[in-house]
Amino acid sequence: MNVLVTGGAGFIGSHTLVELLENGHDVVVLDNLSNSSEKSLEKVKEIVSDYLNNPENKESTDNNKSLDERIKFYKGDIRDEVILNKIFDENKIDACIHFAGLKAVGESVAKPWLYYNNNIGGTLNLIKVLDERNCKNIIFSSSATVYGVPESVPIKEDCPKGSPTNPYGWTKSMLEQIFMDMYTSDNEWNIILLRYFNPIGAHESGKIGEDPNGIPNNLMPYITQVAVGKLEKLGVFGNDYNTHDGTGVRDYIHVVDLAIGHVKALKKIEEKAGLNIYNLGTGTGYSVLDIVNNFEAANDIKIPYEIKERRPGDIDESYCDPSKAKEELGWVATRDIRKMCEDSWRWQKNNPKGFKD
Ligand code: NAD
Ligand code: WQD
Repeated sequence: MNVLVTGGAGFIGSHTLVELLENGHDVVVLDNLSNSSEKSLEKVKEIVSDYLNNPENKESTDNNKSLDERIKFYKGDIRDEVILNKIFDENKIDACIHFAGLKAVGESVAKPWLYYNNNIGGTLNLIKVLDERNCKNIIFSSSATVYGVPESVPIKEDCPKGSPTNPYGWTKSMLEQIFMDMYTSDNEWNIILLRYFNPIGAHESGKIGEDPNGIPNNLMPYITQVAVGKLEKLGVFGNDYNTHDGTGVRDYIHVVDLAIGHVKALKKIEEKAGLNIYNLGTGTGYSVLDIVNNFEAANDIKIPYEIKERRPGDIDESYCDPSKAKEELGWVATRDIRKMCEDSWRWQKNNPKGFKD
């Protein structure tokens, strides 16, 4: 398929490009680079080129085009109808994987209009053009945040949605509703809403990974920046949660497993399966201290930490039941927590300044 990948230069997008290209798909990337660098696309090409030059992988794709023809990049904004139409004028697009969006929870509390404008305004614009161009196939990056405080764990897809604790989370919840209403109005749409749990890790080449601006909000990038000496120590947000050691429990998933989930979802789109929702997680929860301990053991590095106040909006635990994705997409996460810690560290160690070197 020829896939329009919005936000393809970002963390999850770049890893998904690798999996798409290695599986014979072509990609057209649209990204405004507001939270990413075009360098990630160069690195994606290096990774895929190495893969295709390995005789063992020759059979994996019968795509005879050159890699440069197979990855096209448009620097632009999903809120800009002109560039979206230009992309459709210049390319035959079969489906869209829609990653583009702002994702910093704290910033969304401070700048709600920006988040609603970018994430919801941008997606409405994208949907309009996809509809007009009769390309009614889309995979959307949703989030476990739509469950709010879950009624119970492990979380299944039919668990009622809850109230997200910030505007970012609301954009995901509202966009899910918008996609459902689009499908109700027109069953020609094929829509897959993927609810990611906590993506961490990096490509094992160490060439691409998560590159947050400023001080990281999320746990793993904070830990890797402590490990590389950029930050002094980790603050653990609360040790009085109702969990095995009192620190918050999450379902961490390797970003490459997550990326592979998108390739599987694309197969489902090809089957014209209508609207579907899947959790993408491992099904196992790890606490903050479990992650610290695993990181230390995997990489032989000490991570100093101190216990701090709870962070507003955090919940005790969140982990999923991933069996629906296994049954219907044939997808399971295979990379364990040690691999997640090793790969996160390899990326950070090789690229202390991320893509800014
Ligand atoms: P990211 O910031 O690395 O990637 C998002 C990309 O979208 C960036 O390259 C950014 O430049 C681009 N972008 C943002 N607004 C744009 C716009 N208006 N037009 C064009 N490009 C735009 O984030 P990520 O972690 O790769 O997340 C990808 C998607 O997955 C996002 O929608 C995010 O909300 C969602 N998600 C992420 C997580 C997570 O923990 N990383 C969890 C659940 C869901
Ligand atoms: C994980 C755990 C923290 C940082 C967020 C978004 C969610 C989704 C994924 C995008 C929690 C603790 C963290 C630190 C800590 N994002 N922590 N010290 O909050 O589960 O999910 O990212 O879609 O919508 O809300 O992830 O990595 O921020 O936190 O102790 O410096 O680590 O309290 O228990 P979270 P996280």
